[in-house]
Amino acid sequence: MSINIGEPKELMNLSIELLNKLLSDEFVLLAKSWSFHWTVVGPSFGSYHAFLEKIYTETFNNIDDVAERIRALDGVPLQSLRSYIEHARIKDYNAGETLPDAKTMFAILLDDYETIIREIREDLKILETQKVMDEGTISFLQDMIYRLGKTAWMIRAHIS
Ligand SMILES: [Fe+2]
Repeated sequence: MSINIGEPKELMNLSIELLNKLLSDEFVLLAKSWSFHWTVVGPSFGSYHAFLEKIYTETFNNIDDVAERIRALDGVPLQSLRSYIEHARIKDYNAGETLPDAKTMFAILLDDYETIIREIREDLKILETQKVMDEGTISFLQDMIYRLGKTAWMIRAHIS
């Protein structure tokens, strides 16, 4: 059954393309935050371990929401780890010989969160410029800025 929600297919395709980039960002962030959850050490291990679990759980839920928004537009979410790496706007974690300390981990995650927020803001400008009236995706992306912004604040508070 073809989709008819009052938006031309080519404009919905632009929303889908931008959402797939966000999906890719969140997958890279999931791998990174989950591995930090396993490897963080320090005198505040308990709270760091729990906080990193909160981050990867939130990221897991964001992934599901982004992919399902793509489906609601009759699009297909990217489906391979390789495609996530290709489309992500944040860097995949490049593990070195030694594990980073907790402060470095939080600085890496904060940089990712702030990068993703800036990219979503650019995406919203693109949708506006192209006159894409996809209110569902626009409000979804605005809400994502709110969600990511709150967690970014919490991460920033860990290293301030
Ligand atoms: Fe765990």
